[in-house]
Amino acid sequence: MYRVVQRCRACNYSYLQQVFDLGIQPLANDFCLADDDHAGYAPLKVLFCQKCTLAQLSVVVDPNLLYRHYNYVTSNSRTMREHFKTLLRDICANNEKGSVLEIGSNDGAFLAFMSKSGFGPVLGIDPAANLADLAAAAGVETMPNAFSRASAEDALRVLGRVDTIIARHVFCHVDDWRDFLVAVEAISHTGTLICIETPYVVDLLRKAEFDTLYHEHTSYLSINALAAALYGTGLFLDRVIHYPIHGGAILLMLRKGTVRHNAAWLEESITIGDWKAFTGAASRKIGKLKAFIDLLAEKGKTVAGYGASAKSTVWVNACEFTEKQIRFITDNTPQKIGKLSPGSNIPVVDEKELLELKPDYCIMFAWNYRDEIIEKNQAYLKQGGKFIVPSPELEVI
Ligand code: TMP
Repeated sequence: MYRVVQRCRACNYSYLQQVFDLGIQPLANDFCLADDDHAGYAPLKVLFCQKCTLAQLSVVVDPNLLYRHYNYVTSNSRTMREHFKTLLRDICANNEKGSVLEIGSNDGAFLAFMSKSGFGPVLGIDPAANLADLAAAAGVETMPNAFSRASAEDALRVLGRVDTIIARHVFCHVDDWRDFLVAVEAISHTGTLICIETPYVVDLLRKAEFDTLYHEHTSYLSINALAAALYGTGLFLDRVIHYPIHGGAILLMLRKGTVRHNAAWLEESITIGDWKAFTGAASRKIGKLKAFIDLLAEKGKTVAGYGASAKSTVWVNACEFTEKQIRFITDNTPQKIGKLSPGSNIPVVDEKELLELKPDYCIMFAWNYRDEIIEKNQAYLKQGGKFIVPSPELEVI
């Protein structure tokens, strides 16, 4: 079900050092019904390339297993809507309105927003056929494919050379960077703005965000690793913008041409020592949450989870929680409700049921929407319920 990584996918260096190990873990978004066959387990280890500073998982799980019936739907949350506005502002400041291709377009939410804001024509491409159908139903033309040189040819036939290319939180899922970048180059012209938004490894290290490590995220990008991957292509790094979304992300703006990278963006230092510190901080975070939940159990308190995100799967399995400790996890994604959390089989229930089920405590696994979740759950808090925010630091609200 997976291949073992032998060389750095950014710079091809073959000496990669293991810097983090969470053992054998289930696929984080493999929420299944009780009778479904689950996709299985794979090692969750991080390798570090000292040459270009890329961190990557030691294995690449078969994409057919990861994405065929993908449960991750871009959140229609206020946090995400605000982020879309910021992104649009930054794209408009760097390019004219024109045609847009979104790679990994999910349910088409961002493309629909761009289309409403005067961009067009827009086209999405996403390998999850269920999501491509959702997008098409919402009026966003979407090709149900993975992005590659072959599917880029199809996009070229529909849009011609594209004015703006967007890949939000998808490049970190890609195994063959060379194929991806060559395909992007093939559909770009000299004025094309190429926007790659991806979680930033510096934030991951600084805040010990170990729960964003799961099999879909094959790479944890540094700016220098991306620059190394661009070597020998006809693309260069023009700008980098840092955002707080999802615990910290960067927007890498690339353009076509043989111009040197803007060196100002490459002053970044990531060492193996940072990864050692990360391992210590991650195990302390796991230990703290486990100890707190044990304490609540001793006091006879009931505990649930809030947000059946991929992060919840990582937390639950890292802490070895079962239904004994966490009775259920709430979510507002229709595709997840009634399913079981990977590895632990904790049931996912509709978040509307929270007020009736009344757990004493809820672990906020979707901590990246912290303020919004607190604001919309005032009734639960008034009823005496409490949130445990596990990251970046354990906090009880
Ligand atoms: P994400 O961090 O990968 O976007 O996943 C967040 C998960 O949390 C997703 O399954 C949707 C869920 N969620 C809720 O259930 N309620 C909420 O209010 C928010 C903001 C997210």
